[in-house]
Amino acid sequence: MVDVLLGLQWGDEGKGKIVDYFAGKYDVIARFQGGPNAGHTLYVNGQKVVLRTIPSGVFHENTVNLIGNGVVLDPVAFKKESEDIAALGIDLTKNLFIAEKTHIIVPTHRALDKASELSKGTEKIGSTLKGIGPAYMDKTGRNGLRVGDVLSANFEELYSKLKQKHLQLLSHYDVTELNEDIANWEVEFFDAVKFLRTMNVVSGEYFINEKLKAGKKILAEGAQGSMLDVDFGTYPFVTSSNTISAGVCTGLGISPKWINEVIGVTKAYCTRVGSGPFPTELHDATGEKLRAAGHEFGAVTGRPRRCGWIDLVALNYTCMLSGVTQLVMTKSDVLDEFDEVLACTAYEIDGKQTKEMPFNICSANITPVWETFKGWSDKTSTCKQFNELPSEMKAFVSAVDNYLGVPVKFVSNGPGRDQILEK
Ligand code: GDP
Ligand code: IMO
Ligand code: MG
Repeated sequence: MVDVLLGLQWGDEGKGKIVDYFAGKYDVIARFQGGPNAGHTLYVNGQKVVLRTIPSGVFHENTVNLIGNGVVLDPVAFKKESEDIAALGIDLTKNLFIAEKTHIIVPTHRALDKASELSKGTEKIGSTLKGIGPAYMDKTGRNGLRVGDVLSANFEELYSKLKQKHLQLLSHYDVTELNEDIANWEVEFFDAVKFLRTMNVVSGEYFINEKLKAGKKILAEGAQGSMLDVDFGTYPFVTSSNTISAGVCTGLGISPKWINEVIGVTKAYCTRVGSGPFPTELHDATGEKLRAAGHEFGAVTGRPRRCGWIDLVALNYTCMLSGVTQLVMTKSDVLDEFDEVLACTAYEIDGKQTKEMPFNICSANITPVWETFKGWSDKTSTCKQFNELPSEMKAFVSAVDNYLGVPVKFVSNGPGRDQILEK
């Protein structure tokens, strides 16, 4: 049986914390898409850890972790992350497995990402510049290299062929200064490749299907958010993978029949990092207040996150796409100091109201239709049980639950491991 946990907004919903909270109930935690563009924050014994490619179950002794074939893995970022985790006393050679069909990010992917963004000028995606787009382009373009290739005797030759293709592409951009970066990145890359060869590389699809047959419980951990999905997100301001539950099957090699609960994570408000449409964004002091109260700065790039109220139209859409069966609402405590809390219940476009996501979300002139809730002006981060929460917060949670027709089963009231309340 496979449960899925994914973000329902534009990323950074608090997935890492929630996976870490649930991990003890599962035998395997598996990442199925994305790469080091992800930054999943956990607090382990009070210490902050940001995971990028490695699943958020690594801090649980009896949980095995799998990096699935749908992920793109940068050996350099992976080595650094592994060393940071090893310094916390975790032996990754025991609890981490990597699918041999996982595509790798090479230095020239990062250069291509940078060149592409620079060439777009003000229309840039706001990519994390980790090489994600170019690596997925090589996967679907049938040029990519996989972790299994890293183990082969002729890896350097395969790498060199791919690099030549990339240099040809780069020659179309005016970015000669990147040549020096590539040369430096290659030194780190080959060092990291040696490290990667010491890890447990497996046939991911056999590995996970054997676990399923043996009755093991698996949690598939999403990265990014559903509104960044390459098919259904705010295209072209999206990432390059399927972040919705459908991505689990192709990203791990399992049949849809195994999928059980789909746990959707949403903040009690909304944030986005990078460019692109964000209908409920607040450009005023309230937006600033949300950013300050929620410490809304990117876990990977440190960029300030754009902030706004919760968007129920977008959430309804993403719950539909993934067949979400239960919700976790995070960062509710961030709203403690607001006199009122708003939720967008419809979009007004050209004088007409709709509860559906328009095709032309990038060009449509969307005015959110708001429902206003009374604030609770009370500190909720010390509450230990859902019933202790102020009645105004409970009313807000119920309204979200009712609008989406999906039960909010947990409310997270702080970044700590124990700050989560079951409804
Ligand atoms: P992810 O990418 O979805 O794993 O989320 P990030 O780690 O990028 O961002 C979520 C941020 O919110 C992190 O700094 C978490 O420590 C923090 N966080 C998670 N849940 C809560 C919560 O309920 N309340 C507060 N105040 N912070 C939270
Ligand atoms: P987690 O897993 C928030 C955003 C980038 C950019 C767009 C494309 O921590 O929620 P890419 O690097 O994929 O080319 O960037 O997607 N983005 C994220 N935003 N959280 C993330 O991951 C993100 N991963 C990518 O900011 O707008
Ligand atoms: Mg994040």
